[in-house]
Amino acid sequence: MGEIISIVSQKGGVGKTTTVVNLGAGLAALGNRVLLIDFDPQAQIASSFKFSKYDIRSDVSELLLKKSKLKDAIHPAGVENLFFIPGIFLSTNEDILGKITTENNKQLVALMKQVKLQFDYILIDCPPSLGDVSANVLKVSDSVIVPVQCEYYALATVRKVLQLIRDIKKNHNPKLIYRGFLITMVDLRSKLSRFVLERLRYTLKELVFDTMIPRNIRLAEVPMFGKPVQFIDNNSRGARSYSDLAKEILNQDGTIESSSSKIPFKNAENF
Ligand SMILES: Nc1ncnc2c1ncn2[C@@H]1O[C@H](COP(=O)(O)OP(=O)(O)O)[C@@H](O)[C@H]1O
Ligand SMILES: [Mg+2]
Repeated sequence: MGEIISIVSQKGGVGKTTTVVNLGAGLAALGNRVLLIDFDPQAQIASSFKFSKYDIRSDVSELLLKKSKLKDAIHPAGVENLFFIPGIFLSTNEDILGKITTENNKQLVALMKQVKLQFDYILIDCPPSLGDVSANVLKVSDSVIVPVQCEYYALATVRKVLQLIRDIKKNHNPKLIYRGFLITMVDLRSKLSRFVLERLRYTLKELVFDTMIPRNIRLAEVPMFGKPVQFIDNNSRGARSYSDLAKEILNQDGTIESSSSKIPFKNAENF
């Protein structure tokens, strides 16, 4: 049975889509079947693999509206073991996903059940807000990754995410766990980066992944090349960081099996 991991953040530009694509490739390279689902109205996953709307057979909204079959919505990403369901390509109405995920909740639940039978990891790219879509997706997820850009206001945005996840866990989905907070765009040469890093680690403690994602130009080149960073330059710091993150997640799996408490939630309760 696969695991549904939502990549959630209140803000745009923090590295959500970059994480979905390159962590997905990292997990796939370790022999897992991986599906990426795009719930962000900006729908950038398909273009990260150089797919245009002419290459898309069906998208996530058609699927939830039962206008298409799952097999038509799943597209191979051109990388072994890696597949994706495109975001809304066929509608210009950005609010449609909020409406669909709320009103077609049964389809959303059914879709998640189906994909969990076919894939080991399902990574979901959420919109840059904590609105209906992110909340509805969290209600049907097993775990969550929160990318946090290493900048001064990082902590303020983190509190809102913690609040939303606590609420979802309490009222809708008690099994939801943190995979972790992922600190992105780190530049250890900068005093500000080191300061923010220290504050985040002090506040969030073991909820923060050991792996950090550096600011690295190869990662910004992913949409230009249309392939994950590991296939642009596998030795770059960007590629190595996402491959390390994939390994860290698999290692967490090891500890999950031997521990009933899973990933600690206790720190989150303090917020
Ligand atoms: N670690 C990184 N180093 C350099 N550029 C990055 C990094 N992560 C993301 N980017 C670039 O920053 C921009 C925002 O990243 P993106 O993943 O699209 O964020 P989000 O999905 O949260 O809006 C994109 O242009 C992306 O290529
Ligand atoms: Mg994005």
